Amino acid sequence: MLNESLPQLAGSARQMQQAWYADETEHVRMLQAQIPLDEQSQAKIREVAAQVVSQVRARADEQGALEAFMREYDLSSEEGVVLMCLAEALLRIPDDETAEKLIADKLADADWESHLGKSSSLFVNASTWGLMLTGRLVQLSQSTQNNFRSVIGKLANRSGEPVVRLAVRQAMKIMGHQFVMGRTIKAALERSRKKANQPYRYSFDMLGEAALTEADAQRYFESYRDAIAAIGASFDGDDIYSAPSISVKLSALHPRYEHAQRARVLKELTPKLLSLAELAAGNNIALTVDAEEAERLMLSLEVFAEVARAPSIQQWNGLGLAIQAYQKRCWYLIEWLAELAGESGRRFPVRLVKGAYWDTEIKLAQVEGWPGYPVFTRKVSTDLSYIACAAKLLHHRQAFYPQFATHNAHTIAAIRELAGDRLDYEYQRLHGMGDDLYSQVRAQPELHDACRVYAPVGSHEDLLPYLVRRLLENGANTSFVNRISDQNLDIDEVVGDPFTELAGLDSIPHPQISLPAGIYGDSRVNSDGVPLSHELALEELQAELSSSLELPLEAMPQLAAKLKTNHSQHTVADPAQPQKVVGYVANATSEEVAAAIDAAHQGFTEWDAVPVTERADILRRAADQLQQQQAHFMALATCEAGKTVSDAVAEVREAIDFLRYYAQQAERLFGQPEEMPGPTGESNHLRLAGRGVFVCISPWNFPLAIFAGQIAAALVAGNTVLAKPAEQTPLIATAMVRLLHEAG
Ligand code: FAD
Ligand code: 2OP
Repeated sequence: MLNESLPQLAGSARQMQQAWYADETEHVRMLQAQIPLDEQSQAKIREVAAQVVSQVRARADEQGALEAFMREYDLSSEEGVVLMCLAEALLRIPDDETAEKLIADKLADADWESHLGKSSSLFVNASTWGLMLTGRLVQLSQSTQNNFRSVIGKLANRSGEPVVRLAVRQAMKIMGHQFVMGRTIKAALERSRKKANQPYRYSFDMLGEAALTEADAQRYFESYRDAIAAIGASFDGDDIYSAPSISVKLSALHPRYEHAQRARVLKELTPKLLSLAELAAGNNIALTVDAEEAERLMLSLEVFAEVARAPSIQQWNGLGLAIQAYQKRCWYLIEWLAELAGESGRRFPVRLVKGAYWDTEIKLAQVEGWPGYPVFTRKVSTDLSYIACAAKLLHHRQAFYPQFATHNAHTIAAIRELAGDRLDYEYQRLHGMGDDLYSQVRAQPELHDACRVYAPVGSHEDLLPYLVRRLLENGANTSFVNRISDQNLDIDEVVGDPFTELAGLDSIPHPQISLPAGIYGDSRVNSDGVPLSHELALEELQAELSSSLELPLEAMPQLAAKLKTNHSQHTVADPAQPQKVVGYVANATSEEVAAAIDAAHQGFTEWDAVPVTERADILRRAADQLQQQQAHFMALATCEAGKTVSDAVAEVREAIDFLRYYAQQAERLFGQPEEMPGPTGESNHLRLAGRGVFVCISPWNFPLAIFAGQIAAALVAGNTVLAKPAEQTPLIATAMVRLLHEAG
């Protein structure tokens, strides 16, 4: 059923995948034990970091406009969140009309006035005025009471929303400009040669990611290709590590860069990356593959390893990889990379980052009901993991040229301490961020001065995902860049120290971020999903799916045996393999329908008298049973209804959630007597009760979820139910009815 062949994982690759959902506490403790820094070194790191922070603080007045803006509109203010939502949503809206409606909706309610005059930065005040006015304009256009309606209201109605849209887009452009080095690679290269920029090395990132069409993927490929040629031509040295380089996102190069398309990705994406790598090798510059979502890690490593083994680039030491310390797998990934370096006879430039997709990773694991998170839930654990991974990279310097991408003074100082006297590594920062910090770092003789700037290149249209990540990073009140500009925090608080902070914690996992199963608190358990990008979970699922169905199955009306009806049966075939018989079905006769309705009427009073807690428990038992038999029901959804594997996971989970949700709702609504006004205004206490017999007719496209959902809702409310499945999907319905009967 999972017809893509799975990679056979062994050794360090298997160990890495096993760590995907590793227990957070054990994993952090393991990392802690690996860090070769005693108390004295830890104190020295704090001291150096504090010195850097106080020097940056001393120059706070010269702070960039964007930093001031982000501080005023950080994500703990409602307006900051409004801006964030807007930026994020605009990214998805293709047409102007909808964009206008969204902007009108989002801007109208925020309290922009309260931000006015709070910042000394002209930029912040100008933006606030803009947002305030645009917010007002929208309100005016909606108000029929306003005095100015006849004059300004008309204007707002006519041109208000386009003006607002323009203003917001303009604001985004201004913010964007801060983060983008140039619209074209030529402009970016020229800017990088300006005097103030000369001390830095550069890695140019051609904006564009998550291609959804072949045409986009081709366009992004060409832009990388042209950029590599231009960067190569701009440099005439021969040290690949000080040369400017290029950063590439694999999601830009293929429209279906996902695990379910593994075979196709390996066949089509690998040659594309190889051809860019060959071009970079020919130009004697390095190429680094950026790290993206955790789900894509393994696939990216397969592509990377194939390119690393290619004979055509054997002499080139510029093939680089970004790795994310917030992932539990990072520690083992370094092991795997060191082995690959040995095997392919290379030295890899490796960029260690903390990771830019944290919010996405947490939300995705919750939505998908995964067994755990691929990332840590506390920032301090990520900080610690970063230091442990940095030590490991530095330890393997024959395999790696370590590149430490961070804007955090403590992290920078820790690296300096770990690296000792050998200076064959570099720091990295993002264009538009950490300028002041690195001018201080570079000015300190005891710190290392090799620093590369990651410089995005491109136009406004391709900027938004990158911009949203930067806004999240700058806006989060746990971020170092956010805290350093907060004058209310003292220097020690800004510096932070993961070693002491971790020692003082009661719980290593964040207590407010429960595992995905527990996100609904005590009210109900979230259903378990299957991580379909996780090879080890897929190996298990593969085995369960192939043994979970004994064909052919049979579906008969429930009363058929009792009435001894003679049925003619019809055959159900697998929609994907029409020659495969899945089962045989007999439809109910009119007599059977009539008998079923009678039986339901007869059973109603007794069932309605069963206490709601008992009925709810039956639903919960059914949910647990369904969870246990997940593979069986997935297999049925696939071969009877033609669902894809991922839709089959969603189908079963939705049915489980329905059962648990209705159990919980029924107890809430039916448990307490309701106070209801009687016909003459008197107050009556009524207990909700069943209404009688329900007929539930379900559609073929949700053959289990909607089937089970409506039956469960009616039953738990004290009704009796006649269930009629969609005529295309009676087999899965029969299995569900059987399961419900078994549950009570
Ligand atoms: P800090 O403020 O010390 O750390 C912030 C980080 O901590 C967050 O970004 C997050 O990773 C982590 N964090 C925050 N809250 C939590 C929490 N509750 N639990 C666990 N962890 C948490 N990112 C990529 O993903 N892929 C890339 O290829 C990539 N390339 C980069 C290249 C460069 C040159 C630079 C400078 C950054 C790059 N980044 C990339 C972005 C990078 O991940 C962030 O800039 C980085 O995480 C910020 O870390 P910091 O040390 O500067 O700041
Ligand atoms: C990002 O695109 C810098 O790669 C990192 O967020």
